[in-house]
Amino acid sequence: MEPKIKVGVIGAGTMGAGIAQVAAQAGHAVLLFDARPEAAGAAVKNLSATMDKLVAKGKLDRAQADGTLQRISPCAALAAMKDCGLVIEAIVEDLEVKKRVFAELDHCLAADAILASNTSSLAITAIAAACSKPERVIGLHFFNPAPLMPLVEVVPGMMTANGPAAQCSLLMQAWGKVPVTCKDTPGFIVNRVARPYYGESIRIFEEGIAGMAQIDHALKTAGGFRMGPFELMDLIGNDVNFAVTNSVWRAFFHDPRYTPSLTQQRQVESGHLGRKTGRGYYDYGTASTPQPVEVEEQLAMCIVERVLAMLINEAVDALFLRVASAADMDLAMTKGVNYPKGLLAWADERGAAHWLGVLENLQAEYGEDRYRPSPLLRRMARTGGRFR
Ligand code: NAI
Repeated sequence: MEPKIKVGVIGAGTMGAGIAQVAAQAGHAVLLFDARPEAAGAAVKNLSATMDKLVAKGKLDRAQADGTLQRISPCAALAAMKDCGLVIEAIVEDLEVKKRVFAELDHCLAADAILASNTSSLAITAIAAACSKPERVIGLHFFNPAPLMPLVEVVPGMMTANGPAAQCSLLMQAWGKVPVTCKDTPGFIVNRVARPYYGESIRIFEEGIAGMAQIDHALKTAGGFRMGPFELMDLIGNDVNFAVTNSVWRAFFHDPRYTPSLTQQRQVESGHLGRKTGRGYYDYGTASTPQPVEVEEQLAMCIVERVLAMLINEAVDALFLRVASAADMDLAMTKGVNYPKGLLAWADERGAAHWLGVLENLQAEYGEDRYRPSPLLRRMARTGGRFR
């Protein structure tokens, strides 16, 4: 791949606009297309305001800001992207619509161009199947906000050739990102491994073990997480978070480990979607920041241990199924969702036998498959091995 290939971005919404900014800041000429004719122009205008703020804060100089803006050009048709060496799609999360766009791109781009999707929940392999050259189709999963979050999950589909995967990882590094490689499996790394942070916390709340503000407080103070699960769901949007949980659960053929919770469903049905509607698990009408509620130290430790055991089990199982390397698994959680430590490194601190014990106790108590330990956790507990 030429170092300064022209980059096409399709979809000028939240993610597309951010990805276009990242590519332009890295020095690429960027073409930005959206099905809504006014959207790409509006995104560039917003970006101009963002650049002014960055200059005012001293984070960029004027020449860098102007250069970034000048490199992004809205375009009116996909055919205009014919000279792009890489096109990243960030449109609506609908397989049929994405397949139509990829089939058209496949037709109008040069044979060595790479076609990437920023999809969070669709299979790259399914999108690639719409193309005559599926070997050049790949997932490049950025995190929101794309200009700030360092992680990019690089996801080769079943038919993707080795070249595009290696080229994309190098390119992401050149853009100042942290690429991790993962298999084309539901939720990739982050959206799969992070599920219990929300699911198990809601379960603890449903059982009445602690209130949501206490659970948030425990995970922040005793767990070291930057945000508690309930305030984080309110930030992400309960509709969005519920949709991700549902999609991962369906994609794993209704594995009980990923079963969505009724509490979250009711939250969505009530219209209390989080910060964006002024109310979610917390009410943002009076105070914009949820007030912490102290929790007794021993209870806090129990809450953290239970959530952490579920997170670690999920990470270990993803490692067991070769979704990603242990190093990439840990990078994904620290760079994609700001976890204080990688889950596998965290597992090693107390050893696999400890976490296996926590899960076995939960499984004995509840008799639910939800708590089944990964075979790899059992093996490591038996051998005393380390994940990292
Ligand atoms: P968005 O709704 O903000 O933007 C999507 C844009 O795509 C809209 O401007 C829409 O007009 C345009 N669009 C729809 N159909 C199109 C088509 N056929 N051709 C060209 N443009 C079309 O959506 P958002 O949040 O930016 O998500 C885009 C993609 O990125 C989705 O696949 C989503 O799963 C993924 N994603 C979203 C993240 C997020 O936090 N919002 C994080 C990571 C990935």
